[in-house]
Amino acid sequence: MTVAMQQKRVKFRKGKKMNLKKEIKTFCAKAGIWRKDLFGRWPYMHTPLQVAKLVELAVETRHIPGNYVEVGCAYGASTVLLMKTFDELSVARKGYALDTFDGFVESHASYDIETLGKNPSLRKSFRNNDQSWMRSSLDVSGIDNVEVIKMDATKFDYKRCGPIAYALLDVDIYLPIKDILPKLYDQLSDGGIIVVDDCVPDHPYWEGAYIAYREFVSEINSTEEIVSGKLGLIRKPQ
Ligand SMILES: C[S@@+](CC[C@H](N)C(=O)[O-])C[C@H]1O[C@@H](n2cnc3c(N)ncnc32)[C@H](O)[C@@H]1O
Repeated sequence: MTVAMQQKRVKFRKGKKMNLKKEIKTFCAKAGIWRKDLFGRWPYMHTPLQVAKLVELAVETRHIPGNYVEVGCAYGASTVLLMKTFDELSVARKGYALDTFDGFVESHASYDIETLGKNPSLRKSFRNNDQSWMRSSLDVSGIDNVEVIKMDATKFDYKRCGPIAYALLDVDIYLPIKDILPKLYDQLSDGGIIVVDDCVPDHPYWEGAYIAYREFVSEINSTEEIVSGKLGLIRKPQ
């Protein structure tokens, strides 16, 4: 076979592959299958203004030395957003992204359901995940400086992260936040910021986050600062 013939064949194969992808996507769109995965254009668990606030806080910490830690990274939307923000600002930070990739630890969920009276269906949240999904999200976004850690984040030694400039603590319920907040604060650089997500009093699912945030703020003799409706901030004075 001549080189020209070989090239023609490869071109034909590539063309066929492209059409197959188009056909499968079109089939799924029309049949209503995997629409969120294939056509979703909003990966965030935050509103546009909350996303803007997370970015604004990352910009605020640009001169603070230290790394980025996200506890409860789920599928990677906020990790990618914030690591790309640091990249655009030319701020060198390593990222640490922790998750069970299997939802809540049973004893933690039980506390919010049985002691705080929260909705029992929270038990089932975020179980449909896998560490490989998070790694793929980072890979396709061109991010190679995030360590992905699969474990119960209450068992992690946060000293491994070195100094922290910015942290997002996004594990939603009381016991893990109560346990992890002081550990993150110990590692937080002067001028650094911790964002505790879901600080909404009386929330039917996630009020435990607000209670743990409020208790910690009181322990360090600080004042509550909740922005964009649910982001509880903790700042270490300069
Ligand atoms: C709201 S999601 C995180 C969303 C993510 N930060 C974002 O904005 O895209 C909460 C995550 O916390 C994780 N999680 C809950 N308890 C945990 C624990 N003890 N250790 C590690 N991960 C935990 C869940 O598996 C879930 O993926």
